[in-house]
Amino acid sequence: MIHNLKHIIYSTVIEANRKMTAGEVEKTVALASGVDRKTVKLAIRDLVGLGKLTYTYLYGTSFLEPSFDRPVKLSKKIIIKPPNKAYKPQPGELVVNIAGGAAFGSGAHPTTCLSLRALDSVLSDTRYIGRKVFSKGLDVGTGTGILAIALAKLGVQKVVGLDIDPCAVSEAAHNVSLNGLAQQVTITNTALEALVTDFSVIVANLAYPALRRLSPLLSEKMEQDGVLVLSGFKEPASKDLGETYTGEGLSLIREETDREWACLVLRKQGYTSKGHK
Ligand SMILES: C[S@@+](CC[C@H](N)C(=O)[O-])C[C@H]1O[C@@H](n2cnc3c(N)ncnc32)[C@H](O)[C@@H]1O
Repeated sequence: MIHNLKHIIYSTVIEANRKMTAGEVEKTVALASGVDRKTVKLAIRDLVGLGKLTYTYLYGTSFLEPSFDRPVKLSKKIIIKPPNKAYKPQPGELVVNIAGGAAFGSGAHPTTCLSLRALDSVLSDTRYIGRKVFSKGLDVGTGTGILAIALAKLGVQKVVGLDIDPCAVSEAAHNVSLNGLAQQVTITNTALEALVTDFSVIVANLAYPALRRLSPLLSEKMEQDGVLVLSGFKEPASKDLGETYTGEGLSLIREETDREWACLVLRKQGYTSKGHK
């Protein structure tokens, strides 16, 4: 019972699409499990003691988060770590430093992991998508900047990370500097509509309504043979999103799920049902 309760607590924290206070976690888990709040609180304390969860403090509020106090391997190549922890990468591994903060994107959420795994796989296998160089990358809804930084580490020459949240923009810019990528990665609050460039790879980890609404724009901003990675939605929405984007002339080349969350990878082929782009 206690083991199952800890599992529910941990899943609640990592699957939340925003930071949760300890009180919010207690309340949510007590409701979901039928266990009283005092017992939930004790189980949370155990998880903190075990180093699985940690308290972070921001602007006077205490949040409960997965403990990323050590390097974690999230895809074949990508290791995420706090800046103050040393890690000696194995051949082929790429290290992304992410400082704790308020923005989304520590690497713990399934949608971030799915996006990283998709980028790692697509950008590593040039035969798969028939393209040798990814010169321009875009990360829409960059949060901490984790995916924008990963794009650059995976070899994309110039990367833009966008966010509408000023706090995310500032944290992402800080993380870009921490990773020594200020020349390669630009973080901005510019609206997607205002970008004049087309991109060879785009990643967007956003909620389902936003992905649906942005489908014409995201498809338009892709170069021929460009690749689009979408996550941020649950598996039942995959079919509709897949159809929405194939309706924009893209082809679905990969689909993956993790704990109910989903990720789609699409490609813009030279000739689409809407003609040459
Ligand atoms: C789920 S988080 C993803 C963060 C990070 N990319 C990751 O994968 O962990 C979504 C982010 O998108 C931002 N966002 C939401 N709608 C947006 C939009 N229309 N344009 C740009 N950013 C947006 C939010 O502020 C938030 O930081």
